[in-house]
Amino acid sequence: QAGALGDTLGVPVYAVGGFVRDLLLGRTNLDLDIVVESDGIAFARELARALKGRVRAHTKFKTAVVIFSNESGEEERIDVATARLEYYEYPAALPTVELSSIKMDLFRRDFTINAQAVQLNKGHFGRLIDFFGAQRDMKDKVLRVLHSLSFVEDPTRILRAIRFEKRFDFQIGQQTTRLIKNALQLELIEKLSGRRIFHELEAVLKETNPLNCLHRMDELDVLRRISPHLRITPTKNQVLEELENVIKWYRLLYLDDSPEPWMLYLLGLLMGCAYPEVKEVARRLSLSRRQEEDLQDVRELSHKCLGLLQQWVAGERTMSGLYCILSPMRTEGLLYLMARTKTDDIRRHISYYLTHLRKISLDIGGDDLRNMGADPSPVYARVLSRVLGAKLDGNVPTRKEQLEFAFS
Ligand code: CTP
Repeated sequence: QAGALGDTLGVPVYAVGGFVRDLLLGRTNLDLDIVVESDGIAFARELARALKGRVRAHTKFKTAVVIFSNESGEEERIDVATARLEYYEYPAALPTVELSSIKMDLFRRDFTINAQAVQLNKGHFGRLIDFFGAQRDMKDKVLRVLHSLSFVEDPTRILRAIRFEKRFDFQIGQQTTRLIKNALQLELIEKLSGRRIFHELEAVLKETNPLNCLHRMDELDVLRRISPHLRITPTKNQVLEELENVIKWYRLLYLDDSPEPWMLYLLGLLMGCAYPEVKEVARRLSLSRRQEEDLQDVRELSHKCLGLLQQWVAGERTMSGLYCILSPMRTEGLLYLMARTKTDDIRRHISYYLTHLRKISLDIGGDDLRNMGADPSPVYARVLSRVLGAKLDGNVPTRKEQLEFAFS
């Protein structure tokens, strides 16, 4: 559609960036980014009309997002940007180089593999545009920047480089590695805002194997530059490895909640740190007050839980007791506990709680108690929690037995 519209309007249209990279690497990517060599917002409006969608425009950046429903009724988005020459004027002293605006658009991007375009206009449909040797780099599995100021222009690219290297099993090129080291020497990571670092770190931790990235970040001294408390010690490493296994196991269960990777891995990275150190890291990453409180709470609670679980294992081991210990904990904390504990028995029981106990609910509720003339509300919660305890322990499986127990 975009290509046909480009033809109608007489405008060159290209798919660019991660979409093209993933297409050429044979990976799925549903985020289509297009660049047009004309007014991107006007083009987006026309495209939205053709797709019966709507447009969100950012006039300042001359970009727009087209939001529409696909054939299956799901919402899809296409990012449209304007390729402009005037943005990238060379200093007056240099001879004017005639470059097309798509070339200039691609030139300001991070790595060669992300700086390719595929033309979408009918006459040239599928024409691959690779000005900077991306094809060779993809064949050699090398990640290369386009020019020597790339990391100075945007130091978050250091984390992106690590993320792509590990995701695609590439190698950061020699010269690019040197440029990263120079940027680190210039303390460019230290100068980045907390929000930008956190944003990139979150992206790293959402990768399939974030631990590979964390090791590489440690090796290149990036972790220490974000905060010395994040350095990976052998003990932390053991827990982080366990954590990665536990997270993969949990994802395979396809339960409805999806634990936050940033919290899970920060719990591992901050193991052994004291409260003020965690606070320092939270400030460096500009965590919101809520995020920081959640993180501190989970740490404190997991410490307490571990102690209680050790007592529980040595005691009567009732399911209601296990439920009582684990139910105040968020999923992130439970997975962290599984990774931390050295006792198989405890790990098995946390897993049993996550997969079975947590889902158990009563067959009766407050309404039943009211209908049977019980005293009003405040006692209901207490009574129902006792009944739940009895159900967890297997004593009152049916609704009838639960009602009898409630009034016993
Ligand atoms: N880009 C860049 N410098 C950055 C961020 C992005 O040059 N610091 C460019 C790259 O060309 C990238 C495109 O903007 O391909 C889109 O960025 P983004 O959506 O963040 O990344 P993707 O490459 O699509 O990667 P991912 O698969 O992780 O979404």
